Amino acid sequence: MSPAPRATMTELVIPGGMGPVTGRLRVPGDKSISHRAVLLAALAEGRSELRRLSSGLDVGRTLAAIAACGALIESSTGETFTVTGGRSVLREPAAVIDVGNSGTAIRLLAGWSAAFPWLTVLQGDASIAERPMGRVAAPLRAMGARIDGRDDGRLAPLIIRGGGLSGIDYRLPVASAQVKAAVLLAGLAADGATTVREDVPTRAHTEEMLAACGADLEVGPGWVTVRRSVLSPFNLAIPADPSQAAFWVVAACVIPDSDLVVEDLYVGQARAGFIDVLRRMGADLSYEHRDERRQTADLRVRYRPLAATTVGGSEVPGLIDEIPVLAVAAARAEGVTTFADAAELRVKESDRVTSVVAALRAVGVNAEPRPDGLVVQGNGGAPLAGGKIDSWGDHRVAMAFAIAGLDAAGPTVVAGWESVATSYPGFEEDLRRCVS
Ligand code: S3P
Repeated sequence: MSPAPRATMTELVIPGGMGPVTGRLRVPGDKSISHRAVLLAALAEGRSELRRLSSGLDVGRTLAAIAACGALIESSTGETFTVTGGRSVLREPAAVIDVGNSGTAIRLLAGWSAAFPWLTVLQGDASIAERPMGRVAAPLRAMGARIDGRDDGRLAPLIIRGGGLSGIDYRLPVASAQVKAAVLLAGLAADGATTVREDVPTRAHTEEMLAACGADLEVGPGWVTVRRSVLSPFNLAIPADPSQAAFWVVAACVIPDSDLVVEDLYVGQARAGFIDVLRRMGADLSYEHRDERRQTADLRVRYRPLAATTVGGSEVPGLIDEIPVLAVAAARAEGVTTFADAAELRVKESDRVTSVVAALRAVGVNAEPRPDGLVVQGNGGAPLAGGKIDSWGDHRVAMAFAIAGLDAAGPTVVAGWESVATSYPGFEEDLRRCVS
C-alpha cells in the first residue's frame, strides 16, 4: 500500500542538526473543544463568545457548517469568534456540507443535524470517504433518524433526515468520544432520556461543555444521560491543545539541553495519557500553575534520556492521537516499545500503523506493524538519520516526522506538508520560536 496521490503537495525541509527546544510556547486552542464549542454555541439561545478557537481548517469546516445552517458568526481577530444561534436563526442547509478532512466534524455534525427535521448531506475528502461512519449511523438510526450513505450508511457521504427522535440507552461498541458526542447532541432534541455508556473513558468535553451551558445532564462513572434541553449562550477561553503540544513535548524530551514550558494545556479526562507514557519512559515532566476548574496546567519539559515502554489497554483512547509522535519518542529510547490495543489507528486520517511504520523506516528506524499497533526498536537516544517521508495526507504523521527531523544527522523532507493546516497552521512559526 502506498499513500494516495493528492492534487497539491508541498514539502517541508528540515535541515537537521537543530535544537535544543527552549522557552515558553502556547499552542493553538484545543481542536476537540473548539468543534464542540462551535456546535453548542449554534444551539444556544443567544450570543456566545469563543476565544482562542483552533485556527485549523477542520474547525473552520464546523464553523462553515453552522453558518450554512443560519448561525451568525463574527470574528475580529481570527481567534475570537462570536456565534449567535438558537431556534429562531437555525434553518435547513441549502447545500451539501463539506467537512474536508475532519472526522470530528462529520461525526459530530451527524448527531447535531439529526436533531432537526431537516435534510442534511455531509461529505468530505478522500480520507473521510474511507473512514467508518456506521458507528454514528447505527445509534442515530436507533433514535429514529433516517440515515443513508454509501454501503448502507457505513461510508460518507451521509444523507440525514432528522427530527422526531427518541432517547436510547447506548453502550459504545468502540471507545469513541466522537460517537458519544454525536449521540448526546442528538439527545438534546429527543423525547425521553438518552444515555451513553462507555467501558473505557474517552475525552469528556461534550458532557463538560453541555453542563456548562445548562443542559439537562447527569454524569456518573462510565455513563452520561441527557434530556431535551435549551442551551444558554456561554463565553469560553479555549485551553491549548495537548495533542499539538505533544509534538514539542517529545522534541524537548529527546533533544539534549532542552527546557520548554507549554502553557495552558487542557489535561482533563483522556487527554493527558501521553504525559503518563513519557513519564513512564523516564521523561522529566512537571506541571506548573494547575487550574483545577479549567482542568489546565503549564507543562515544563526538560531533556532526559528515555527508556522503552509498553502502551496498551485502557490507556489507549486517552493517547490515540499522540501515537505517531510517541513512536518518534520510542525510536529515541533505550529498548523496544510496543503499542498494542490500538486498532483504531488504522481508521484515522491515514492508516497510522502503515503510515507511521513507513515513516519510521524511512528515517532509519526498525519498526514492525501489528494488526493492533506497532513495535519500535529504540536507538538509545542518538539523533535519527533523516530521510524523505510522506505524510499520507495526515497532519499528525507530518508533524511527528518534522519533530523526528529536528536534530537528525541529515535533512528530513516531509512530503504532503499541506495537511498540517487542518489542525496547526502555525506549526512552522512555533518551530522557529522554540527550536534553535
Ligand atoms: C476526537 C476523538 C478521537 C480523536 C479525534 C478527536 C473528538 O476520535 O482521535 O482526533 O474530538 O471527539 P474517536 O472518537 O474516533 O476515538
